[in-house]
Amino acid sequence: MHSNIESHLIEKRVFRPPKDFAKKARIKSLDQYRRMYRESINRPAKFWAREARELVWRAPWKKVVEWKAPFAKWFGGGKLNLSENCLDRHLTSARRNKAAILWEGEPGDKRTLTYQQLHHEVCRFANVLKRHKIGKGDRVIIYLPTIPEAAIAMLACARIGAVHSVVFGGFSADSIRDRIADSGAVAVITADGGYRRGAIVPLKKNVDDALREKTSVKCVIVFRRTGNETHMEEGRDVWWHGELEYVDANCPPALLDSEHPLYILYTSGSTGKPKGILHTTGGYLVGIYSTMKYVFDVRDEDIFWCTADVGWVTGHSYVVYGPLANGATTLMYEGAPNWPEPDRFWKIVQEYRVNILYTAPTAIRAFIRWGDQWVAKHDLSSLRLLGTVGEPINPEAWIWYHKKIGGGRCPIVDTWWQTETGTILITPLPGAIPTKPGSATLPFFGVDAAIVDEKGSEVGANVGGKLIIRRPWPAMLRTIYGDKERYKKQYWSEFPGNYLTGDGARRDEDGYFWIVGRIDDVLNVAGHRLGTSEIESALVSHAGVAEAAVVGRPDEMKGQGVVAFVTLKGGVKPTFGLKEELRNHVGAHIGAIAKPDEVRFAEALPKTRSGKIMRRLLKEIASGATVTGDTTTLEDFSVLTTLRESEE
Ligand code: WTA
Repeated sequence: MHSNIESHLIEKRVFRPPKDFAKKARIKSLDQYRRMYRESINRPAKFWAREARELVWRAPWKKVVEWKAPFAKWFGGGKLNLSENCLDRHLTSARRNKAAILWEGEPGDKRTLTYQQLHHEVCRFANVLKRHKIGKGDRVIIYLPTIPEAAIAMLACARIGAVHSVVFGGFSADSIRDRIADSGAVAVITADGGYRRGAIVPLKKNVDDALREKTSVKCVIVFRRTGNETHMEEGRDVWWHGELEYVDANCPPALLDSEHPLYILYTSGSTGKPKGILHTTGGYLVGIYSTMKYVFDVRDEDIFWCTADVGWVTGHSYVVYGPLANGATTLMYEGAPNWPEPDRFWKIVQEYRVNILYTAPTAIRAFIRWGDQWVAKHDLSSLRLLGTVGEPINPEAWIWYHKKIGGGRCPIVDTWWQTETGTILITPLPGAIPTKPGSATLPFFGVDAAIVDEKGSEVGANVGGKLIIRRPWPAMLRTIYGDKERYKKQYWSEFPGNYLTGDGARRDEDGYFWIVGRIDDVLNVAGHRLGTSEIESALVSHAGVAEAAVVGRPDEMKGQGVVAFVTLKGGVKPTFGLKEELRNHVGAHIGAIAKPDEVRFAEALPKTRSGKIMRRLLKEIASGATVTGDTTTLEDFSVLTTLRESEE
């Protein structure tokens, strides 16, 4: 066994912040960054209090941070409302008439909501929630496409202190059911459908399927998006537009404790059950506010476009809350990047004169494959800053993004963070930190990141190890919803007092971080985390499957691809048809993103004498090009197993 994680990527190119960018930026030099970073580490309370004071508090906090590892309280005693900070705060200036949300639907329909309009809609919808007896602390599932109503619903929950849990629109009925059960949600907010690659995703039907058996849900509010025929369950389902008839727009923001829960977002861990990551109000707000301000150096006149779906954490922090907390204009796009043609993003950039674009490496690799001609057709000169998130970006994709999209003039911020961290933690600041393609560079203010070996000792330059964070930060997760023990065990037990990210990384001689990827059994497919065991449980729930092992293999487009090794029950025939059926089965249980790229049938799964599946062996097999002619024949790993066991 290697005790360290190897990292072979050596990239020497350095890109300094362009002078004119640096001159106008809030943080203008490496020296200034280092000064502020030192202050944020040496005097965190002072640093964060200064950031927090730029926001609206209804009662002052008593203590900036209280740390009883692994439980943190930020701005304890303080009272505030996040929707007030995202909306009402901007209504006293000319900002009230600027666009808060610019939205484009996949079919090409468009809407603009000014801060004043958004405030009006949020207040009305918050009153709809109240009318349905939804109040402080109640959990609400939001299962919507990336449409303004998603932001409205989130902000309306925040306004009354309800806890939202957004479920990605690509997830299936089973995923919704699990999340309802785990969170004990009382309501679901959904739409009749959403558009994806020209087709309608039947969101409401998925909700109906999820609610077939008794659950905690008492009401379903349905937004009419596509107009397709929709079953409405008497006494449970109501139309969004119908409900608005009964309410007015007067809804004062609820006074909430700084540690009041804001949202639960489910994410994959290394065991089968998704983890409900819990974020709270005050620290999260300060975190998204200041990362948005410094990392994107966002300005009042900017159009900021984060292409993430609202169902992921990036959509929470940098489509909705971060931009709005800063009074910025956020652009939302509902659909696929290649609909109706592969230049949809560039059309949008040109038409709205987007200034800051934040997207994922997997999308960038797709654009490269689709060809430069799609980019060349459009004027992208409005762009001034680019960002990436979700997975390591390969240097060549970085260079392409820099040249072809950024015209060589835009800095790129490669931002490392997680659902758990709530905000960006390792990142360049665009006017201050020179970038190296493929590196997320240096820690953000207040972030004490380190790379350690198995024993927890910090490793030297260019030695791989585990990435940990050595002290709390404002937007950190507070717990796993309903499972404190799992929270402790998963994140804080390996190196007590330190947060375990689950990522491997190295630091170079300049202290720059290079993230290698996940070290636990979690795959990163097209920037989305998928637990291998979740996919395995989905496979085993099929009547023909006896056992399954899922591993990742390198994939040029998606970062990682999903390979499933499956043993069938006696009498079940391995056929092509069954492979397809199993892929669809996973699609139906989790969602299309989790569908295995390849299903391989095996006589038996390779196991050690103690009965552990030999994942490393399977990974090697999955990455190898050795696929025998007839791929439906059962593979026999017994020889390989014997070989491997004599090695270990
Ligand atoms: C990976 C998404 C390298 C990493 C915000 C992390 C990255 C996981 C980067 C979190 C990056 C995210 N460079 N890897 N810039 N950003 N990752 O929870 O493995 O969906 O642990 O949050 O994505 O994924 P999650």
